[in-house]
Amino acid sequence: MRIETPRASQMCADLGVVFRPREPLADWTSLGVGGTTDVLVVEDARCLPELVAWLRSEGIPWRTLGGGTNLLIAEGELPTVLLQLSSRKASATVAGRRVRIDAAADLGRTVTECARHNLGGMEGLIGVPGSVGGALRMNAGAYGTQIGQFVQSVTVFRGRAGEIVTLPRDQISFDYRHTSFAANDIMIACEVELPEQPYEEIRAAIRMCNEKRRASQPLNEKSAGCIFKNPPGGSAGKMIDELGLKGHRRGGALVSERHANFFVNRFQATAGDFFALIGDVRERVQQAFGVELENEVIIWGNGK
Ligand code: EPU
Repeated sequence: MRIETPRASQMCADLGVVFRPREPLADWTSLGVGGTTDVLVVEDARCLPELVAWLRSEGIPWRTLGGGTNLLIAEGELPTVLLQLSSRKASATVAGRRVRIDAAADLGRTVTECARHNLGGMEGLIGVPGSVGGALRMNAGAYGTQIGQFVQSVTVFRGRAGEIVTLPRDQISFDYRHTSFAANDIMIACEVELPEQPYEEIRAAIRMCNEKRRASQPLNEKSAGCIFKNPPGGSAGKMIDELGLKGHRRGGALVSERHANFFVNRFQATAGDFFALIGDVRERVQQAFGVELENEVIIWGNGK
């Protein structure tokens, strides 16, 4: 969506927002596909109420972009602008066992930063790509750990009310790759409480998770992590693998030979290639196992 007008430029300048017109979204996502739109990079989250009120008054639809690591965006012009919190000054502040983390901070770097303060617990999350905000929204998890289990509070811009609030953990529900946050809530920061543990122990656990991940996931290829959620009591990757679909290709998109629930962009894929591949695999799993796989990857455009 194009909003490049003198008024938009002035508004952005007044609020310290960096206006990035006609951005190719392939450059903003780990999957490396997608169309274009205007991106507004927000340097100071405190301007969100004013920025969003202005977008609303102009009738401009918006969405929030985090690290772009769990996202499949359709080709063409996205019908919304994107707001992204700048990671330039994002940090984690440690006080005892509590850590306040900016949502724009990189999740992996935050895990190692906490480890340096002898705070563990989150090592399972070490290889999960993306921002802390994205991890909070999805309740990201790996190797038996989900970010939600450590969260004490989340500071969030509530899209509907247009205001910034801090929610204590009992007002948020964290489920498997799902939370109670609304689609237009923007994560700003969170506070986590972590168990104390010697740095060397945490480092050893981090190393082990990294090795497991390297052995089982295609880390050197463009992907959005797992495409489907695991169905209750089952494994999407195992089912897809059992159907012999590893290496199945639509255009430039393939089912990874290393992990069947990872679809990779190997040959300059388009978003359409991924939609076709997702459709093929979902249909085959439905036919063979009677299971309707639910997307884990977030889809924008293409009717969503
Ligand atoms: N398996 C196969 N073939 C495959 C892939 C997996 O047979 O191609 C088997 C494995 O041998 C294992 C079982 O399926 O017995 C489960 O596989 P794995 O341990 O790799 O875990 P997963 O359930 O496929 C989940 C998360 C991952 C997370 C890993 C590690 C989901 C959808 N995926 O994968 O998260 O990294 O556990 O904890 O919950 C993501 O969310 O994007 C993601 C990658």
